[in-house]
Amino acid sequence: MCGIVGYTGHKPAQEIVIESLKKLEYRGYDSSGIATYEDNIRICKKEGPIANMESVLSESTSTTAIAHTRWATHGVPSDANAHPHGHTDNSIAVVHNGTIDNYLSIRESLESEGYNFLSESDSEILPFLISKYYSGDLVEALNKALHEIQGIFTIAVIHENHPDEIVAVRNETPLVIGVGNSENFVASDIYAILKYTQQIIYPEDYQIVRVTAESVELFDAELKSIDYNVETVEKYTEVSEKGGFEHFMLKEIFEQPKALQDSLTELLVESPLERLGLNWKIGSISIVACGTSYHAGLVGKYVIEQLTAIPVSVSYSSEFRYAAPVQGVGGLLSSRPLVVLISQSGETADTLAAARAAKQQGCHTVAICNVPGSRITREVDGVIITKSGQEIGVAATKTFMTQMQALYALATHLAFNSGSLDHPQYKLWESEIRRIPSKITQVLNNCESIKKLVPHFTRAKSVFFVGRNINYPLALEGALKLKEISYIHAEGYPAGELKHGPLALLGEDTPVVAIAVQDHTYSKLMSNIEEMSARKAPILTVCQKGDQQVPKISDYHFELPEIDPVLSPFPVAVFLQLLSYYIAHDLGTDIDKPRNLAKSVTVE
Ligand code: G6P
Repeated sequence: MCGIVGYTGHKPAQEIVIESLKKLEYRGYDSSGIATYEDNIRICKKEGPIANMESVLSESTSTTAIAHTRWATHGVPSDANAHPHGHTDNSIAVVHNGTIDNYLSIRESLESEGYNFLSESDSEILPFLISKYYSGDLVEALNKALHEIQGIFTIAVIHENHPDEIVAVRNETPLVIGVGNSENFVASDIYAILKYTQQIIYPEDYQIVRVTAESVELFDAELKSIDYNVETVEKYTEVSEKGGFEHFMLKEIFEQPKALQDSLTELLVESPLERLGLNWKIGSISIVACGTSYHAGLVGKYVIEQLTAIPVSVSYSSEFRYAAPVQGVGGLLSSRPLVVLISQSGETADTLAAARAAKQQGCHTVAICNVPGSRITREVDGVIITKSGQEIGVAATKTFMTQMQALYALATHLAFNSGSLDHPQYKLWESEIRRIPSKITQVLNNCESIKKLVPHFTRAKSVFFVGRNINYPLALEGALKLKEISYIHAEGYPAGELKHGPLALLGEDTPVVAIAVQDHTYSKLMSNIEEMSARKAPILTVCQKGDQQVPKISDYHFELPEIDPVLSPFPVAVFLQLLSYYIAHDLGTDIDKPRNLAKSVTVE
């Protein structure tokens, strides 16, 4: 989603912020822009890739700049709606991530005062509002403007009267300050600036920051100067190369055995539950997440409920915070509910809001996250870091895999702790979890046979993915992957539900992908496949090695490596990811940056 970068120092700022902005491209955007200080503030912005903006950009000697990538919320992607937004007198430039809820009334009132708006963006009220309150101090002006606006935001401002200064603030969306040597940075995301500094300040909501080349100051709402910590973050291995793969998504699919291997040490540690603060008998668990992370959460429900007696509910983050209080809240401390928040980015606005709601209700919160230092890891009571490495493809793959792995590890620890697994059983589970990387490598090695399935799907009107039990969430994930990167309509369904509606849609042009592993739902699933086949839907099944029956009732099938059905979501996920990838590849879509989507969704 939208990205912000700002630099002030002694070097040419334009080059630095553009390079930094490019580090955020993978998150998804539709336009970009930059503001520098020349004789007055100069803004250059363009719809489309950063290269479009660069092609119209003049040389600059400015040592201060702010830049932005926009993902449209209010107003179509266009040059006018791109950021930075400025004042007609070229005195100020503002970049904004998030949304201003009450912008319409503020805009009307500013228009009645004679301000002339050029865009449809909610953000354009900001330069006018800040200018209106400006009387020599940019921090003071921004603070006054903050009293009028409602919404979620990260804002960065430069003003012609303070050519070496950037002022910034956040509310619920990310803002980090990078501290350098006679140069400082503001950014919405540490990836943007890690190349230059690992010394990071994380301002809290509504703390106003003023950075110059030599100083960083933080102010509270009364404009009193406040102390801050500078943290040293681990240098994240920068990913800029596709390593011989045509797309980042394919590279990341093939990186999954390593991602699982790297995450193991974090997951199978001594006393993990104490480390997460889970030192009481847990009565219930709520798992909360969005998108692919939500599907990992659903898999987690099946595995936790299978191994422990703890009931688990799974909610979309955007629903959770408006739902009834979590069961168990207000009860005895011993039954304090656990809320597990899953977010690969750690910045998803809805999941952050859900974490805050859970904390307010008195729940214990644990996050499963792939980005150390991200917002969610700083707000919850316990953190499980997955070690997938940076994921560039918008469609999540390796982070999904390690999220599932984290949930399996959590389930085994909870089961051992509560006595539902004895030590030998626990050890058996542990060794099964350790064998997953080699199992999924077998699917990767079989990618050529997955490619051959593509022609059966590229002309499909719609594709249904079905599964039962622990593979029902995989059906959802398979459908999500296909629709997000190939733009073919797809739906994931519990196989037993098709007869309650979707069967009406099945036919020769509506293939079905059925995940048919040999667990206790196997025979029922066979009947479901027969039902779908009777409606002439072409059936592709994903079955276990050696299965004699499923291939007979399928048009095509793919054999999984030998694996316990409860661990089947791992190889099944790889199969579904590759299937979607090759279909999308055949259709020629922009696989790493699907239209309208963003990697990190920082608006609710
Ligand atoms: C976006 C991404 C998905 C991701 C979802 C949740 O929609 O495109 O790949 O699953 O956000 O993101 P999170 O960072 O919270 O896991």
